[in-house]
Amino acid sequence: MRCSLSASQIISAGLAIVPVAHALSPRTEISDSYDFVIIGGGQAGLTVGGRLAEDTNHTVLVLEAGGNGDEYRERIDTPAYSYYDSLWTTPLNWKYYTVPQSNADDREIYWPRGKVLGGSSAINGLYLTRPGEGDITAWKDLLGDMDGAENWSWDSFYAAMKKSENFTAPSDSIAEEADIHWDTSTHGTQGPIQASYPGYTFPQVGYWSESLENIGISISADMYGGDNWGAEVSTSCINPSNWTRSYSRTGYLDPLPDRGNYDVLANAYVTRIVFDTSNADNLTATAVEYTTDNGTTTSTVNITKEVILSAGSIGSPAILMYSGVGPKDVLSDAGIDLLSELPGVGQHLQDHFSATLTWNNSVTTSGDIYYEDETDKDNELYLSYIDDAVAYVNATAIYGSDVSSMESSILASIDQYAPNSTYGDEVIAGYKAICNITAKKIFNSPTGIIELLFMNSDANGDIGITAALQHPYSHGRIYINSSNPLDYPVIDPNYLYNPADGTQHWRSNPLSNNLTVETAPGSDVSTDDEWVTWLRGAASTEFHPSSTCAMLPLELGGVVDANLLVYGLANVRVADASVPPISLSTHLMSSTYGVAEMAASIIRGFYNGVPLTQSSGSSTSSSSGSTATAAAKSAQTVAPSNSASSNQGALLYSWISIVLFIGLSL
Ligand SMILES: Cc1cc2nc3c(=O)[nH]c(=O)nc-3n(C[C@H](O)[C@H](O)[C@H](O)COP(=O)(O)OP(=O)(O)OC[C@H]3O[C@@H](n4cnc5c(N)ncnc54)[C@H](O)[C@@H]3O)c2cc1C
Ligand SMILES: *[C@@H]1O[C@H](CO)[C@@H](O)[C@H](O)[C@H]1NC(C)=O
Ligand SMILES: *[C@@H]1O[C@H](CO)[C@@H](O)[C@H](O)[C@H]1NC(C)=O
Ligand SMILES: *[C@@H]1O[C@H](CO)[C@@H](O)[C@H](O)[C@H]1NC(C)=O
Ligand SMILES: *[C@@H]1O[C@H](CO)[C@@H](O)[C@H](O)[C@H]1NC(C)=O
Ligand SMILES: *[C@@H]1O[C@H](CO)[C@@H](O)[C@H](O)[C@H]1NC(C)=O
Ligand SMILES: *[C@@H]1O[C@H](CO)[C@@H](O)[C@H](O)[C@H]1NC(C)=O
Ligand SMILES: *[C@@H]1O[C@H](CO)[C@@H](O)[C@H](O)[C@H]1NC(C)=O
Ligand SMILES: *[C@@H]1O[C@H](CO)[C@@H](O)[C@H](O)[C@H]1NC(C)=O
Ligand SMILES: *[C@@H]1O[C@H](CO)[C@@H](O)[C@H](O)[C@H]1NC(C)=O
Ligand SMILES: *[C@@H]1O[C@H](CO)[C@@H](O)[C@H](O)[C@H]1NC(C)=O
Ligand SMILES: *[C@@H]1O[C@H](CO)[C@@H](O)[C@H](O)[C@H]1NC(C)=O
Ligand SMILES: *[C@@H]1O[C@H](CO)[C@@H](O)[C@H](O)[C@H]1NC(C)=O
Repeated sequence: MRCSLSASQIISAGLAIVPVAHALSPRTEISDSYDFVIIGGGQAGLTVGGRLAEDTNHTVLVLEAGGNGDEYRERIDTPAYSYYDSLWTTPLNWKYYTVPQSNADDREIYWPRGKVLGGSSAINGLYLTRPGEGDITAWKDLLGDMDGAENWSWDSFYAAMKKSENFTAPSDSIAEEADIHWDTSTHGTQGPIQASYPGYTFPQVGYWSESLENIGISISADMYGGDNWGAEVSTSCINPSNWTRSYSRTGYLDPLPDRGNYDVLANAYVTRIVFDTSNADNLTATAVEYTTDNGTTTSTVNITKEVILSAGSIGSPAILMYSGVGPKDVLSDAGIDLLSELPGVGQHLQDHFSATLTWNNSVTTSGDIYYEDETDKDNELYLSYIDDAVAYVNATAIYGSDVSSMESSILASIDQYAPNSTYGDEVIAGYKAICNITAKKIFNSPTGIIELLFMNSDANGDIGITAALQHPYSHGRIYINSSNPLDYPVIDPNYLYNPADGTQHWRSNPLSNNLTVETAPGSDVSTDDEWVTWLRGAASTEFHPSSTCAMLPLELGGVVDANLLVYGLANVRVADASVPPISLSTHLMSSTYGVAEMAASIIRGFYNGVPLTQSSGSSTSSSSGSTATAAAKSAQTVAPSNSASSNQGALLYSWISIVLFIGLSL
């Protein structure tokens, strides 16, 4: 039995005022004006809001399109319900679809996103993994000598990620059964987001690391400290004191004392940012327009300092475009007045494309317990179980000594698969720069390029293994085709456009001792061509779209500079998953908390006296290679001893087939 969380300073526009649990006074209406207005009360938005409101001399408002989620409290809170009673079916999900994907059987692929306070952190799968040092170094290298670039060094960004986190080690029995290894020093221990492990596990979770070790993917020595390769049982956003989901609302909003300077308005759908256009090269945001009644009426709230866009990888570029900031052609086709031309808005979209193979098996899975109504089904500890065994597999582990020739073939593909020339030279240059650095400093480095996930919670009690491409060379875009800001933007991830998104076969075991019949895709799929065909029809999103308001120099199609300021706008920043210019080898929560914590530090530093100059955006990308990490340099020399025999086989689109190491050895 769980008691409902009460809301604090949340105001549900158009609805009854939510009862107040503690210190905060409810405000029945918001003020006319705030210093900072944050658009989107999702994962990043509530993080930025909570931190900015720590300065009591500033007023802060968050506008969130979704509700507060309290009517779904138990489903949000209970980790295992992310599989068994998912919020996808509720109004807490935007329920987007991509446009038909021409390299994936023309499918319109489903893209859930959180529409509630907490955003996607309220409805997601709770994995709390970390990008690698190589990922972050590549990001920073793309910034060149831009003012503020130092903030995005690994050390600085790692500190920002840790700041959000409070790590709790697993119990001895869970650690032993699941074979969990950890290093507390690589985690934060003072932050508001609880990072721990489920209170229930299964023997087969413990077989994961050993199975991978048998094929040369060793247990990760330091997965949370920057060495993002190898196998591990990851942390999850679980509060171990009561086995509930820890997300941006419970971490950054509910515990706040009432300081009288912070309001959060739910059910407030932002339609546009209003600008003073008297300086056409440097527009000043003066107000934010929103609706609480599905567009029947709109209201505005004035701002005295800044707007921070935290509406996510889909929402943030869409709001910029609806406000007149974006690619000229897109805005003119949509019938929106162009106020500030910025070709990169919505471009550089990268997502982790993924697919799952499943097997019948001889063990009791989490799915068996739930779907077969076993006694543990309502046990609080069982309901804290979510899948957490992961592995990040690097190119050396996949290709052995062929890494360099693979790198060459990827580099050779870049020109051919660059974005449509109608998108502008900047966007094309950005695509090339991102792919170049990905091939040179991530592909040819120890950093994982494929993520494997152990799925013990599938329907039918099957065991699944998901493989997800972490660094796609196919980039897509978000754009609008309407002048009505309530219309959904168009999502085109352009999956599998560049055939370099591929890899080859693997095989090995001990987990395979527990697997019986391959249930999906099944024995009909075995040749390379059959795998490609299957993948086109079966693969989907890992829910990690990023980079649509990319931090890059302007000439690479950048949207924000290293201080998160949108080019051409005096006082609008972006802080959410749309900012990293390069896809990261990780689930995106830790990096998104990192972006949000960094944003708050930069903004508070600026208004509390640290000088800041807006970058002109004219700095060039330093792709000189001089900053290659020691790890990247060592990449040339290492090849796992027992991978050689698995390096035969043609290159496939079906990087997914890496997981066959288990199935094929039956
Ligand atoms: C189903 C699913 C499973 C996932 N699993 C994991 C996982 O296990 N681990 C992990 O690390 N990551 C996972 N992710 C990814 C991760 O949750 C997201 O990348 C991250 O939370 C994005 O944070 P954000 O702040 O950028 O966006 P969000 O958290 O999505 O926040 C954006 C907010 O803006 C609001 N908004 C949008 N438009 C408007 C508007 N016009 N007006 C007002 N408000 C608006 C939205 O309603 C939303 O609340 C998953 C994501 C999904 C969807
Ligand atoms: C916002 O500011 C404008 C002037 O800049 C003023 O006319 C308007 O009344 C203000 N709106 C509110 C809601 O205070
Ligand atoms: C605002 O408050 C912060 C601390 O909360 C302080 O560092 C800063 O100097 C204050 N700024 C002004 C302008 O008073
Ligand atoms: C960002 O970088 C500036 C110097 O460029 C530094 O003064 C500031 O402290 C950094 N901010 C954070 C949050 O690290
Ligand atoms: C961190 O977790 C520990 C339990 O491991 C708990 O006692 C402590 O209160 C938590 N701290 C924060 C800031 O949440
Ligand atoms: C790649 O991954 C393997 C297995 O996790 C690891 O042993 C190796 O050190 C990593 N780095 C390189 C360059 O192969
Ligand atoms: C779980 O515990 C946290 C603090 O430890 C608390 O804020 C939250 O309300 C609790 N959740 C439930 C459902 O009891
Ligand atoms: C909002 O209005 C649109 C038409 O403009 C309508 O299609 C949609 O169903 C409405 N949504 C809600 C929640 O009322
Ligand atoms: C899966 O295995 C169980 C026994 O463990 C068996 O009853 C069932 O028929 C099998 N299903 C399939 C699809 O092979
Ligand atoms: C490029 O975009 C234009 C305009 O959207 C379209 O007409 C053309 O077909 C596209 N070209 C390619 C190669 O996709
Ligand atoms: C599962 O695999 C493990 C390790 O290979 C083995 O010890 C165990 O007997 C198997 N369990 C079942 C039920 O097949
Ligand atoms: C834009 O205007 C703001 C203040 O209104 C100023 O601080 C900033 O330097 C200007 N940016 C540019 C690039 O001119
Ligand atoms: C690719 O990156 C390398 C160094 O990492 C650099 O020397 C080269 O100029 C880059 N090429 C392009 C086309 O950006």
